[in-house]
Amino acid sequence: MQTHLRGRDLITLQEWTKEEIDTALEVAFELKRQRALGQPHAILRDKVLAMLFFYSSTRTRASFEAGMAQLGGHAQFIESRTTQIAHGDTAKEIGEILGRYDDGIAIRNVDWGLGNRYIREVAAASRVPVLNMQCDIYHPFQILADIMTIIEKKGHPRGKTITVSWAYAASYQKPISVPQSLILLMPRFGVNVRLVHPPGFQLMPEIVEQAKENARRARAGFEIMDDFDAGMRGTDVVYAKSWGPLLTVKTDAEGAELAARYKDWITDERRMALAREDAIYMHPLPADRNIEVSDAVIDGPQSVVYDEAENRLHVQKAVMALTMT
Ligand code: CP
Repeated sequence: MQTHLRGRDLITLQEWTKEEIDTALEVAFELKRQRALGQPHAILRDKVLAMLFFYSSTRTRASFEAGMAQLGGHAQFIESRTTQIAHGDTAKEIGEILGRYDDGIAIRNVDWGLGNRYIREVAAASRVPVLNMQCDIYHPFQILADIMTIIEKKGHPRGKTITVSWAYAASYQKPISVPQSLILLMPRFGVNVRLVHPPGFQLMPEIVEQAKENARRARAGFEIMDDFDAGMRGTDVVYAKSWGPLLTVKTDAEGAELAARYKDWITDERRMALAREDAIYMHPLPADRNIEVSDAVIDGPQSVVYDEAENRLHVQKAVMALTMT
């Protein structure tokens, strides 16, 4: 167990060692057990977390806020429409000032080309840990909850195969932070990765190179494919979600036009049947129902999306308890 996480930022899990990630997961399992038993665990009594949202959220906000309350502390909800954080307050000022009020600063800013830079500027000026609640490049707490869920459902993940696939959605150009964080972390646990997407939906080349290097070091497989059906064949974990062609097009309209060429990229029962019989279906939510995934799959016996969403609570409490004490 790694015990020196006090004061650490979590901006990407790539900056945490495997031992540190294992520690966070061990604590998450323990806090989940304590909550199931109704045992109080006010590890962060009197501590305050600032939660800055430049972008909407359901699960992330609710789970961080509930988590801080369960740890005996308080979470401040600070969103960009009713405060000055999106106009006037600089990242440096936010880091300096909220670092003096609070014991941790959590930020969601998914603006393409800006979000990660903003979070790092806040972190550089902050005396307290900065936690990434999703930026344009990474979504570390989602992926920590995902690996926890895979361990719960599949036991030790080494040797399993995850299909990280693009799927069509009509709602909006979703960020690429989830697939990028998945392909980076999963190989570190020995999981073979199949990254599947149609032409034009590639991820950042430097992230793909880092993911390949993680796979090489952990002796895990890493493949890039452009055929959804082939990517599903015999897989253990189906993680199919939409993302925007952010590296290919300049406008939302161009993105929507390109995506519309692949409307048949839906996770339905026919496609799920290509995976292993005991394969699980995962999605970070929200999903475009019957566009990105059919009701039959997301509500079906192979879907673990509610356990996956629950685990956000436990991993976030673990990281807050380890970094903010
Ligand atoms: N999965 C996830 O981050 O959900 P929200 O966008 O609702 O927070």
